[in-house]
Amino acid sequence: MTSSRHGHDLLHCHEPRRLHRRRPGEFVLAVHDRIGCPRVRARVRARTPRLHFSRFFAGVGAIVCGYNTFDWVRRELTASGDPFVWPHEQPTWVVTHRDPDPTPGVTFTSSPIADLQSELVNAADGKDVWIVGGGDLAGQFADLGLLDQVWIHQCPVTLGAGRPLLPRRLRLHRRDVETDGQFTAMLFDVVGPEPRTDS
Ligand SMILES: NC(=O)c1ccc[n+]([C@@H]2O[C@H](COP(=O)([O-])OP(=O)(O)OC[C@H]3O[C@@H](n4cnc5c(N)ncnc54)[C@H](OP(=O)(O)O)[C@@H]3O)[C@@H](O)[C@H]2O)c1
Repeated sequence: MTSSRHGHDLLHCHEPRRLHRRRPGEFVLAVHDRIGCPRVRARVRARTPRLHFSRFFAGVGAIVCGYNTFDWVRRELTASGDPFVWPHEQPTWVVTHRDPDPTPGVTFTSSPIADLQSELVNAADGKDVWIVGGGDLAGQFADLGLLDQVWIHQCPVTLGAGRPLLPRRLRLHRRDVETDGQFTAMLFDVVGPEPRTDS
C-alpha cells in the first residue's frame, strides 16, 4: 500500500463519497502495526484525525461496489500501461450483470442485495463492509435498512453539475465532523428513510 496510484488513494483524492457499514464503537487505528512504542503510538494516535481515511480503512473487512466504479478504478490503474491488479487486500464483490474477465480478489455477482449482505458480513469477520459506490448501490442497501453510516470527505471544489451523492431521501444524524487536510470529514449515522412532506 505504498503507491500513490493505489486504489483507495485514487478514491480518496477524487471521490467525495464514503459509504460503509459498521458497528458502533469499532474505530480501529491504522498506526498500530507500524509503530511499536506505546508512547509514540499514543502521540501519533492523538495527532491522527479521528476521521482520517487510514482509520476508516483499517476497520474495513470487505468491499462492495458497482461495475462502473470497478471499471473506473481499473481504467485509472492501467492508464499508464500497468497490468491490472485489484488494489485492496480485503475480499471484494462487484455487482454486475456482465461476465467480466476474472480478477484475483474480486467476485462478480448479480445476487440480490439481501443475499449478498450475509456473504459480505461473513467475509468482513466483525469488521465493516465498505460500499464504495455508486450512490445508488448504497441506496439499494439503505432500501433494505442495511446502510448504517455515511462517511463523507468533502473536497473544497465546486462542480456546477453532477449526480446526486446518494439518490435516496434519508434522515442522517451527524456523529462527528473534522478536518482531514483540505477535506472536511463528516460521519453520519443513518436514522432511516426521510418521509416525504410534499402535498
Ligand atoms: N471521480 C472519482 O473519484 C470516482 C471514483 C469512483 C467512481 N467514480 C465514478 O462514479 C460513477 C459510479 O458509477 P455508477 O453511479 O454508475 O454506479 P456503480 O454502482 O459503480 O455502477 C452501476 C452498475 O453496477 C451494476 N449494478 C448496480 N446495482 C446492481 C445490482 N443490484 N445487481 C447487479 N448489478 C448491479 C450495473 O452494472 P451492469 O450494467 O454491469 O449490470 C450498473 O450499471 C462511475 O461513473 C465511476 O467512474 C468516480
